[in-house]
Amino acid sequence: MLNPRLDDLMTYPFERLARLLLGIEPPKIMAPISMSLGEPQLAPPAFVATDMAAAAPDWGRYPPNRGTPGFRGAVADWLKARYGLPDGFIQGDTNVLPCAGTREAIFMFALAVVPPAKIRDGKALRPAVLMPNPLYHVYSGGAVLAGAEPIYLPARAENRFLPDFRGLRADLLDRVALAYLCSPANPQGSAATMEDLCSAIEMAIVHDFVLAVDECYSEIYDRQPPVGALEAAASFGSRRELAREHIVVFNSLSKRSSAPGLRSGFVAGGEKAIAAFAKLRNFASCQTPLPIVTVAEHLWRDEDHVRATREAYRARFNLAEQMLEGRYGFYRPDGGFFLWLDVGDGEEAAKRLWAEAGLRVLPGAYLCPDEPELQAPGTRYIRLALVHDLETIGEALTRLRRVLN
Ligand SMILES: Cc1ncc(COP(=O)(O)O)c(C=O)c1O
Repeated sequence: MLNPRLDDLMTYPFERLARLLLGIEPPKIMAPISMSLGEPQLAPPAFVATDMAAAAPDWGRYPPNRGTPGFRGAVADWLKARYGLPDGFIQGDTNVLPCAGTREAIFMFALAVVPPAKIRDGKALRPAVLMPNPLYHVYSGGAVLAGAEPIYLPARAENRFLPDFRGLRADLLDRVALAYLCSPANPQGSAATMEDLCSAIEMAIVHDFVLAVDECYSEIYDRQPPVGALEAAASFGSRRELAREHIVVFNSLSKRSSAPGLRSGFVAGGEKAIAAFAKLRNFASCQTPLPIVTVAEHLWRDEDHVRATREAYRARFNLAEQMLEGRYGFYRPDGGFFLWLDVGDGEEAAKRLWAEAGLRVLPGAYLCPDEPELQAPGTRYIRLALVHDLETIGEALTRLRRVLN
C-alpha cells in the first residue's frame, strides 16, 4: 500500500532529461560538457576544512535540532546587515532555524503550515499552494504531499519572469495556505522588486497565508543586491511584525559559499511559523551535525569569499554576453548562475546539442509540471548552468552557436 499522492508528484527534471537523451550518443571526438545541473564548481573557502577538523570531537555528539546559539546569532546578524533590518526584528532564538540544505526545509515547511482545510467565513475550503511555473520542483512536491492543490503561476518574459499574484481571484486567494516565491528565480534569474514583495506580503496578510521566499541565489547577483522578503516586511512600519509573521525566507550555503556538499541552510521568519517548523522538525528533520554548524557559523560571518564568488560568476556572464548577445534572447539575469535561452523548441535543441556537440542542457519544459497544458512557459527555452571554468564555458558556447545557428 503506497501513498497515492506520490503519483501526483512532478517528474524529476533530470529523470526526464535522461529519458530524452537515452540512446543518443554524443560525438566521440569531443569530451561531453554537462551544463544541465546547477552544481557550483568553485572551491569552498579553505577554512571549511580546517574548521571542520578542529571541530572533530563534536562528531561524537548528537546535534541539537535548533543548531547552536552561535549559528542562529550569525544568521540573525547576517540578515540584519545584509537587509538593513531594525534591531531585534530577527532574533536568533525565535526567528531562525538551521536546515540540512534548503531542499528539505522547502519541502517540509509545507507540512508544517498547510492545514487539512482552510477556514474562511466559517467555511472549510481545500487548501491551495501558489508557486511559479517554471519552478524548483520541491515547491510542488511539498504542496502535493501536504494534501494541498498546487496552483502554478506562469512566469513569462512579459512579467519579468515573475509569477503575478495580483491577477488572482479572491476566492482562490482565500484558499491559499502557502505561496512559494523564488527570488532571484531559478531558472530565469529575475529578482522580485520591493514593490513585488510588499504586494505579495500584503496579500498574505489579507488572505491569511504564509509567503515562503526561496532566496538561495540572493548572493550571486550581477549588479544590485536583490531586495529580500524580510527587508520588505521591515518596510511595513508599525505593521512590520504582522508582515514578518506572514513570511519565511530560505537561504543556503550551497550557492553563496560553493558548498552544496555541506547541506547547510537556514529558514528565518515569523515566530509562529518558525515554532511550528521546529515542532515538526523534532520528528522529521535531519539535524545538521555540530562540526557543520560550526563551519556554517563562520561562513555566514565571512563576506570576503562571497565577494570573490560573485566576481567569478560576473566573469562567466561577461563571457556569455560576448558570445551570445543578440542571440537566443540572451540577457544578463539579476542573479543566480543560469542562462535561460529562447531557442524555439527546448527539447529539440537539447537533443541536437547532445548528439552534435556533446553538450548536456536542460529543456525549459522539464522545469514545468508534467501536464502538457502547464508546459508552455518553458517549452521555448533551455537552461544552462554557468558553473564551469571560463575555458570550458567558452568551448561549450562555441559548440552551442555552431549547432543552433
Ligand atoms: C531554487 C532552488 N531552491 C533551493 C535549492 C536547494 O538548495 P540546497 O538544498 O542545496 O540548499 C536549489 C538547488 O539547486 C534551487 O535551485
